[in-house]
Amino acid sequence: MTSTDPTTPSKREYATPTFQTTRLTFTPLAQTDATALHELRSAPECMKWSRQGRPDASVAETQKWLDGSLAEVTAEAEADTAGPAESRNSRPDPRKDVVFAVRELSHVESGAAEDRIVAQAGFRKAKSEVTGVERFEIGYMFVPGVWGKGYASEAAQGMVRWWFELYPGDSESEKPEGIYSIVAKANPASLRVMEKCGFQLVAEGVDDHGEEVVEFCMNNE
Ligand SMILES: CC(C)(COP(=O)(O)OP(=O)(O)OC[C@H]1O[C@@H](n2cnc3c(N)ncnc32)[C@H](O)[C@@H]1OP(=O)(O)O)[C@@H](O)C(=O)NCCC(=O)NCCS
Repeated sequence: MTSTDPTTPSKREYATPTFQTTRLTFTPLAQTDATALHELRSAPECMKWSRQGRPDASVAETQKWLDGSLAEVTAEAEADTAGPAESRNSRPDPRKDVVFAVRELSHVESGAAEDRIVAQAGFRKAKSEVTGVERFEIGYMFVPGVWGKGYASEAAQGMVRWWFELYPGDSESEKPEGIYSIVAKANPASLRVMEKCGFQLVAEGVDDHGEEVVEFCMNNE
């Protein structure tokens, strides 16, 4: 099949929408982002809260993670558009494992030669380690050099807005699910971001690594 075949979705259909907040810009992570992303993924104080739990040792390892992550996103989108045209979604569901590169608008607009990614952020469908319920989870981590500027709170609020605008729902049955987040009790900055953004505490427990965690939810109200 060629890309002009109406039953074959083009790569463009898989693209996650790009959006901005007051100071940040969100674009889908790209294969070419490894070098710009490495500052973040090599920071131990960030990566200790990630599923990987340790920093990437080299740009090559960041590239490997990136390749794997993008392959998952594409596979999800392809699964969504597989099969006869009449039985599949006309548009892939972009809520599946969306991963954004976050840049500072001021940096992008100044045309700086260096490409700097200040955060990795996204949504993934996952089973809660606390309740066992499958739902959508928000996540993000910022390079330590920009902590304390309110960026994470701005990002979380912007991402939640983007999410609910994408699937507003016009009847009770179509009402989109809430957005969840799991935060370690030992991570006060992240707990504070949840509080500032208005997430509600819904459960407490222990994650797969034995870490005490709190689960939060933001409903679309
Ligand atoms: C958690 C993280 C995203 C916060 O990013 P940020 O841009 O600094 O967040 P904000 O500036 O929006 O808000 C942080 C809040 O936490 C507060 N805070 C920071 N460190 C704190 C601490 N040790 N104890 C209590 N509060 C703390 C800040 O004062 C701020 O609150 P305020 O605005 O009321 O003063 C960032 O530290 C990070 O990327 N950490 C590593 C990865 C991570 O933990 N990701 C989240 C996993 S759930």
